[in-house]
Amino acid sequence: MESVEEHIAAMPRIGDKAPVFKAVTTQGEINFPFDYRGKWIIFFSHPADFTPVCTSEFITFAKREPEFSTLKCQLVGLSIDGLYSHIAWLRTIKDKIEFKGMKNIEVKFPLIEDITMEIAKKYGMIQPGESSTKAVRAVFYIDPEGIIRAVIYYPLSLGRNFDELKRALIAMQTADAYSVATPADWQPGDDVIVPPAGSCGVAKDRMESKEEGVTCYDWFFCTKKLPLDKVNNPLKIK
Ligand code: BEZ
Repeated sequence: MESVEEHIAAMPRIGDKAPVFKAVTTQGEINFPFDYRGKWIIFFSHPADFTPVCTSEFITFAKREPEFSTLKCQLVGLSIDGLYSHIAWLRTIKDKIEFKGMKNIEVKFPLIEDITMEIAKKYGMIQPGESSTKAVRAVFYIDPEGIIRAVIYYPLSLGRNFDELKRALIAMQTADAYSVATPADWQPGDDVIVPPAGSCGVAKDRMESKEEGVTCYDWFFCTKKLPLDKVNNPLKIK
């Protein structure tokens, strides 16, 4: 029989096709990622239902879900709990829990049941050094072609930063739309990075270019203006 470690050796990486699966969720059955073709997907795991950090995260995900949906991004959650636990937990969240002024929050995106851990193992969400019985807080960004574009892992004790989850999505959408890269701490509206010159000729032209909005600090480091209204999401990060 295959060990947990062997599954982890095969965990999906950036550039891989998202592993496919069918699953039962709180919103009915899904065929992943095909049901979301043409959209970005944030597929994330949480350790367990009825736990405090996860509860704070679900309230925040659900409250901010319209911001992700504006960015044509579907949220899909998973834990290795069963469907009835998921349903009971989401009802409790709606009926009883207030977090940072957010209350009566209804989670409308699908939450996958994965009691067998089959899907969690496929996605490398079980990391035995952290826990063999709970998924870590994994976040997979999957693009509209079904390709994994970014993966972020957090330990059990660390609640995710939703501004960063959204910033990363906008940055990747911006990079795709304009063939640019985004520098450290980039926020929509900041200057973006022009891909480095691939030849000596281009490097020389670049340094001598007077193209409007382009600044070259050296041949390999040029930025250009990309105003907020040109970025996919003209809304502010928050
Ligand atoms: C939590 O969500 O609070 C949590 C879950 C598993 C381990 C530690 C914390």
